[in-house]
Amino acid sequence: MDKNSAIYIAGHTGLIGSSITKILKEKGYKNLILKTKEELNLLYQKEVEYFFKKEKPEYVFVCAGKTGGIKANIERKGEFIYENAQINLNLIHFSYIYKVKKLLYIGCSCMYPVNCPQPMKEEYLLTGKIEPTNESYAIAKISGLKMCQSYNYQYKTNFLTVIGGNVFGEGEKQFDEGAHVIPSLIKKFHQAIKRNLDKVEIWGKGTAKRDFIYVDDFSNACIFLMENYDGDEVINIGRGEGVSIREIVENLKEISGYQGKIIYNENMPEGAPIRILDIEKIKNLGWKPKITIYEGLKKTYLWYIKNYGE
Ligand SMILES: NC(=O)c1ccc[n+]([C@@H]2O[C@H](COP(=O)([O-])OP(=O)(O)OC[C@H]3O[C@@H](n4cnc5c(N)ncnc54)[C@H](OP(=O)(O)O)[C@@H]3O)[C@@H](O)[C@H]2O)c1
Repeated sequence: MDKNSAIYIAGHTGLIGSSITKILKEKGYKNLILKTKEELNLLYQKEVEYFFKKEKPEYVFVCAGKTGGIKANIERKGEFIYENAQINLNLIHFSYIYKVKKLLYIGCSCMYPVNCPQPMKEEYLLTGKIEPTNESYAIAKISGLKMCQSYNYQYKTNFLTVIGGNVFGEGEKQFDEGAHVIPSLIKKFHQAIKRNLDKVEIWGKGTAKRDFIYVDDFSNACIFLMENYDGDEVINIGRGEGVSIREIVENLKEISGYQGKIIYNENMPEGAPIRILDIEKIKNLGWKPKITIYEGLKKTYLWYIKNYGE
């Protein structure tokens, strides 16, 4: 990629897409192609084909998708499988047809088997059953990975797949019950303080561990790979450390200054018990995360208060 390359960031209004866009601009990339969902709905094949034909992007970051937390994944399986599969089909196929030089597709850690040895190495993909609560989403995400690999094999494209840990940070838009765990906890704490509630309820035991990573760290890794890596291997991007929901809750309690009780509702699901990514591959390529979980949570909390904390 050079500073004048035409770079399309699909999903530039989302958590990851907005951070990738911000960092590319900071690095001096001048020719970014950005389209809102209203301007280009990626579910529609003809619209996507017209866009690629007209705009001729040279590089594509696939940051568009239907996302959500455990509740949304359980209740809206149909939407999750259809929209994610359709967006991937359209973006990856027309990137091939219109000769995109390089594409980066973002997969997620739920693509790994539910009983995967920890930390999860890239070679463990497709070696077992998927966690049932997010199976539809994960199957759609796996089909995107297989599409990139199949096109690389048959058409000699340069389509890279990365697998992200649990990305969080400034730019998040969903904070309600359908949201990912960190934004929904941030909202819960803020609401509890505002309404003077004496307790905050958390789904599950709080023991589930995830590989949380602050969004700018994640985006820097994606850009680093677009700039420096041309291989065909899947690459994990995380911090390579498991942090429990309980630790996140304790940190957010401290950051927000909430004084009430925390109740863990063990009758509610909390997904797979542990998901930690092995990040040896990307570390060996020369990248490592810089932002601690506490720093990231603090930035995200302050950002939420500024933007949503009426
Ligand atoms: N967040 C994570 O923890 C995480 C971890 C690993 C992988 N990923 C993957 O990374 C990608 C981005 O995640 P994110 O957290 O940044 O998601 P996000 O905040 O929900 O952003 C999704 C983006 O996709 C756009 N989009 C959705 N449907 C579209 C459509 N039909 N046409 C055009 N644009 C559409 C959204 O536009 P609107 O805002 O207009 O709806 C938004 O810009 C997803 O594929 C996700 O699977 C995320």
